[in-house]
Amino acid sequence: METLLDTQRRLKSLLLMYLLVVNAAGDCPKPEGGNNTVLTNESLLKNVFPENIMVTLECSSGYIKESGSEFITCINDQWTESELICKKKDCGQPPPKPHMKFDTSEGTLFGALVKVTCEKGYQISGPSYKECYDQGWSGRASCEIVACDKPAIANGNTSWDSGDDPEYNNTIRYTCHEGYTLIGSDTVVCDETGEYSPDQPVCNEVTRAPATTSRSQVAITDLTTTDAKLI
Ligand SMILES: *[C@@H]1O[C@H](CO)[C@@H](O)[C@H](O)[C@H]1NC(C)=O
Ligand SMILES: *[C@@H]1O[C@H](CO)[C@@H](O)[C@H](O)[C@H]1NC(C)=O
Ligand SMILES: *[C@@H]1O[C@H](CO)[C@@H](O)[C@H](O)[C@H]1NC(C)=O
Ligand SMILES: *[C@@H]1O[C@H](CO)[C@@H](O)[C@H](O)[C@H]1NC(C)=O
Repeated sequence: METLLDTQRRLKSLLLMYLLVVNAAGDCPKPEGGNNTVLTNESLLKNVFPENIMVTLECSSGYIKESGSEFITCINDQWTESELICKKKDCGQPPPKPHMKFDTSEGTLFGALVKVTCEKGYQISGPSYKECYDQGWSGRASCEIVACDKPAIANGNTSWDSGDDPEYNNTIRYTCHEGYTLIGSDTVVCDETGEYSPDQPVCNEVTRAPATTSRSQVAITDLTTTDAKLI
């Protein structure tokens, strides 16, 4: 009667024989990818590569097949030369967005960076670069219109009655209350930097300033007198 120990011994010697036979037949080393090529997951899972076995290569992430066979074969303990040629994938033009511009001078191939800018009066919200990845362009930016702070004037009114902030190109008109005089421009525009152009005016109290007036008049008189004497 065969004991459990005997069975184990027999299994062990069978395993040993199997390993010897496999080694004697000759194996290829684990294959490696080449220029922009990698082993498929399926091939990576294999551990033994006996004579005549074929494994499959594929293009690395970001690359697509240009030409050649995906297969390499183990012949005489060596892998056949890989013929697979892969090229960088092209992300193409980034999808257009309102008021957005792209600088694609670096190209649109895998790994390329594209600078994102906005038209005048708009500012970028989000990353200012996009990169071409295997899945396509990175970055979710948008161009938002520039806004100015709500206009304000002491002792006067403005034409802005909206609850929102004025935006680029909006025009504001100013009036002063009775008894005040407007200093500056009565019309300003929200410019592309988010400032008013020209500056907002102010309303100054109307005051008669006779002292100032008479002093300058005196000065002019003096000057005239001096000039007259010189002649
Ligand atoms: C990779 O490409 C370069 C230049 O094209 C070549 O010299 C080199 O032999 C290639 N390497 C492999 C592993 O194919
Ligand atoms: C291969 O395996 C890796 C890691 O397990 C996985 O991220 C990848 O998506 C797989 N590729 C394919 C083509 O199945
Ligand atoms: C300015 O606004 C005040 C209060 O909102 C209003 O009573 C007044 O009539 C306005 N004046 C002008 C000149 O629009
Ligand atoms: C802003 O105004 C300028 C000059 O009037 C005009 O050319 C431009 O199209 C305007 N832009 C916007 C966003 O309203």
